Amino acid sequence: MPTVPSLAAAVRRRVADAILAALPEGEVPASVDPQLRRSDRADFQANGILGLAKQRKGNPRELGALVLEHLHDDDVIASSELSGPGFLNLTIADPAITARVAVRSADPRLGTPAVERSGTTVIDYSQPNVAKEMHVGHLRSTVIGDALARILEFGGEKVIRRNHIGDWGTQFGMLIQFLVEHPDEQDETAADAGTDGPSMSRLNRIYRASRAKFDSDEEFADRARERLVALQAGDPQTLAVWQEMVEESKRYFEAVYARLDVLLEDADAVGESAYNPVLAKVCEDLESSGVAVRSEGALCVFFDDIKDPEGKPLPLIVQKSDGGYGYATTDLAAIRDRVNVLGADRMLYVVDARQALHFRMVFAAARRAGWLPDRVEALHLPFGTVLGKDGKPFKTRSGDTVRLMDLLDEAVDRARAVVAEKSPHLGAEELEVRARQVGIGAVKYADLSTSRTRDYIFDADRMVSLSGDTGTYLQYANARIQSILRKAPEGVTPAAHAEIALEPAERALGLLLDEFGETLAQAAEVYEPHRLCAYLYAVASTFATFYEKCPVLKAPSQEVTENRLLFCRLAGQTLTSGMNLLGITAPEQL
Ligand code: ARG
Repeated sequence: MPTVPSLAAAVRRRVADAILAALPEGEVPASVDPQLRRSDRADFQANGILGLAKQRKGNPRELGALVLEHLHDDDVIASSELSGPGFLNLTIADPAITARVAVRSADPRLGTPAVERSGTTVIDYSQPNVAKEMHVGHLRSTVIGDALARILEFGGEKVIRRNHIGDWGTQFGMLIQFLVEHPDEQDETAADAGTDGPSMSRLNRIYRASRAKFDSDEEFADRARERLVALQAGDPQTLAVWQEMVEESKRYFEAVYARLDVLLEDADAVGESAYNPVLAKVCEDLESSGVAVRSEGALCVFFDDIKDPEGKPLPLIVQKSDGGYGYATTDLAAIRDRVNVLGADRMLYVVDARQALHFRMVFAAARRAGWLPDRVEALHLPFGTVLGKDGKPFKTRSGDTVRLMDLLDEAVDRARAVVAEKSPHLGAEELEVRARQVGIGAVKYADLSTSRTRDYIFDADRMVSLSGDTGTYLQYANARIQSILRKAPEGVTPAAHAEIALEPAERALGLLLDEFGETLAQAAEVYEPHRLCAYLYAVASTFATFYEKCPVLKAPSQEVTENRLLFCRLAGQTLTSGMNLLGITAPEQL
């Protein structure tokens, strides 16, 4: 089905046409943007005439009156009036609202456009580290990246997901050496497997033990360094142990992704090690083109505008003085691959705000090297920190970073209590399914509804609250709508009766549902899923008011019931589709 233009777009066009018609023939104004916004006085208010009159050194009320003469009431605009210093107040015709609700509801995409911006976007997100537990920082990257991927893809963009797993680096020398010296540690995975799939406790234990040994035992440290050289040289036995460790970690990551309902798959996991074969070439090219220079033995890229606190130029080190490559080199290699092989028009990096300088330097170096042409956009999408209830970065009582799985368990536990209280008749199995949907949805929504760059406090009780701006509230609103639709008697189905005059609460709901497509476009434009969250919350609350003011199944006539069922259905479709784009399940029943 073709895109359904929003009522706002239709009004904007009509007012713009009227402005043009009101101006003397031949006059081309700088802008005829009516600056339309929703308003309490009427449905919309157009403020653009003020600026335009000022530009033409004319009286805004006079210009407004002229525009009004050319703005004829029609099937969309029921009435228009001039107010204040020169605003236009515009009221939409009831039948236009009902008709829009009907066409949107009949379309699987709810009338939203599909090819707003078609290009290829590579999104780098999640990025956990091998042999380490995923923590709250990875939660944010995973959840935000996944929602953005879904929203962009829905808008018609080709999206390539890249899970830049930390599977390479100096720590692997020590890890592998430890495993080689403690072969008994290698084969007890099964005993650790928890209810949610493989656990990380074995690799975690090994990480700590090998680190402790590395720090205290000089000879072990030497053997670990030799092991690292062997790994980099591709020694088969060493590679085999490394490979096994990577696989074990990946099984755990996949269990987390399955539990979180994120779309990342094995094929999306292109770890840092994948770029290892080309790092030497990357450095060679940087050096021969003069982008990087040797400084104190290391190969460095310097920038005019990036200095340390003492005013000394701060380098991006692409090769250390011992010949090793680092995190930056891998990111540069990945850029080349993403531009040349994947054909990226846009690259997004959903990574902690603390890495802002790293990405600034990497992007600038890549531009200078000619690997990142002007037509390709590279954006670091930073996010804030997850805080504990004390307002400090979230830590366990012993001061460790909080395991992602523990955090999810906590939310699911709270959700189980909420669901059990609301639906006491549920069997154990059913209760478990819903507790998961609610708990995981709550965690994701709490994360996504906070503007990306802000810190937020992880509060599981608040997250699963049935009232307020929570994922649980949205899920309940949708389940309630589905139950109303199920309860409609035989032969009474959602249907448009455009001749019926609408109540204010119906108008408010219909006009809001009409904004879904524009909201998605905005969220995609600025890469901010929280805009979609705020919209869905408004839909759920506006629906609550509608349902309170406008009885559906006990309406004055069957026609009114059918018309209201139609509004209910689109509200449910919008909530479901919006939640899905955030990666949140919208169960039909709770
Ligand atoms: N693995 C890193 C971490 O856990 C984040 C990697 C970010 N992505 C990237 N392309 N550099 O902190």
